[in-house]
Amino acid sequence: MSEADDAHFMARAIGLAKRAWGATHPNPMVGCVLVENGEVSSGGYHEKDGGPHAERAALSSLMRNPRPGATLYVTLEPCSTPGRTGACTDAIIASGIHRVVVGATDPNPAHAGRGFEVLRKAGIEVTTGVLAEDCADLNLIFNQVITTGGPLIAAKVATTIDGRIATRSGDSQWITGEEARTDVHRWRRLFPAIGVGAGTVMTDNPRLTARLPDEPEWCPVRFVFDGRLRSVVDHRLPKVYSDEFASRTIVVTTQHGGLGYVRKLKAMGVGVWVFEAPSGRVPLEVFRARCAAEKIGGVLLEGGAQLVSRALAERQVDYFFAYQAPVLFADDKAKAVLSGLRTDKLPQALRLADLRRTTLGDDGLVRGRVVYPPKLQVDETLFSLG
Ligand SMILES: NC(=O)c1ccc[n+]([C@@H]2O[C@H](COP(=O)([O-])OP(=O)(O)OC[C@H]3O[C@@H](n4cnc5c(N)ncnc54)[C@H](OP(=O)(O)O)[C@@H]3O)[C@@H](O)[C@H]2O)c1
Repeated sequence: MSEADDAHFMARAIGLAKRAWGATHPNPMVGCVLVENGEVSSGGYHEKDGGPHAERAALSSLMRNPRPGATLYVTLEPCSTPGRTGACTDAIIASGIHRVVVGATDPNPAHAGRGFEVLRKAGIEVTTGVLAEDCADLNLIFNQVITTGGPLIAAKVATTIDGRIATRSGDSQWITGEEARTDVHRWRRLFPAIGVGAGTVMTDNPRLTARLPDEPEWCPVRFVFDGRLRSVVDHRLPKVYSDEFASRTIVVTTQHGGLGYVRKLKAMGVGVWVFEAPSGRVPLEVFRARCAAEKIGGVLLEGGAQLVSRALAERQVDYFFAYQAPVLFADDKAKAVLSGLRTDKLPQALRLADLRRTTLGDDGLVRGRVVYPPKLQVDETLFSLG
């Protein structure tokens, strides 16, 4: 089989893995195809936590033993420990498969490479690293949880080319087009939780659900960061506190919020996480630890400007989504998306790594892992409470 063939079949396995988009937490998305005489004869994917692994799903849907010379393509290194469903390496060896082609290596350093060793010892030819980056990209959230024990905190912004989110008069809907906005809904479907600041909830009153064509509306955990419960005082209560998914909303606040408002939220079925924070803002590091304790593996911060700026200044954004519309305001009074850092020299800038770029209609998405400089200079005055 040529390298191009291997890439072709791995791409098919990736396609299968994506059928379980957002449904496998805390497990990874994994896809697998079995190829006999140059044709895909069976395929499978990991559908949900506790369900069969992709390799077992592909082997069992074949309903016979693989033919001599069969090759199995799998997006993630097969597990070599029994877990709840038995080691996949055992199932592969028992099936008599001749060759295994793998995309990403197990991100858990305690297991990385062990599956390959077990298979090779059993006389199976193993090829690794085929479309490795695409395969690893399937599991941004799982990879973070398994290596750090905590959630992937991501942030999203949608701006003009000159980095603005609204005109000087506040006109902001919509800067990006429909395809980019649909893409945001896809990511909402992937992340177990999304988060917004009180400003966004009060200004835009968003529903914060994933609404995708031909799929039922999906509601992730919805975090509202509101240190002083300003959004509860408002006479017009935001939708996220009163719609049919209200029990999926958790307000992240401090002791400055007032017990009466906390009770009011709880009476409406809304969750409340109260933290001791002298500043009235919950440090994102503390929030991260609570998410880890509650087994919430990923949070996508969707704005607004203050919440995302603060999270970056606290070095708590692991991954960044930047949607960009081909629009220029060229107006220094237009609202900028991020602020609060003082960057004197280029090496002090934050950068994105492991970049992925997508074109969405007229708009673009650049996303990647955030790499922080050794020291950030934070302008605290910009974050003081008004
Ligand atoms: N283009 C985009 O990508 C995008 C995305 C989303 C929103 N937006 C726009 O952004 C605007 C709102 O942005 P904004 O900067 O004014 O508001 P925001 O970031 O949504 O909310 C800021 C407020 O949230 C609370 N907050 C933030 N961090 C907190 C923390 N760690 N702990 C507790 N509370 C915290 C604070 O309330 P207190 O001050 O009361 O403590 C703060 O004032 C809206 O106009 C919206 O349309 C744009």
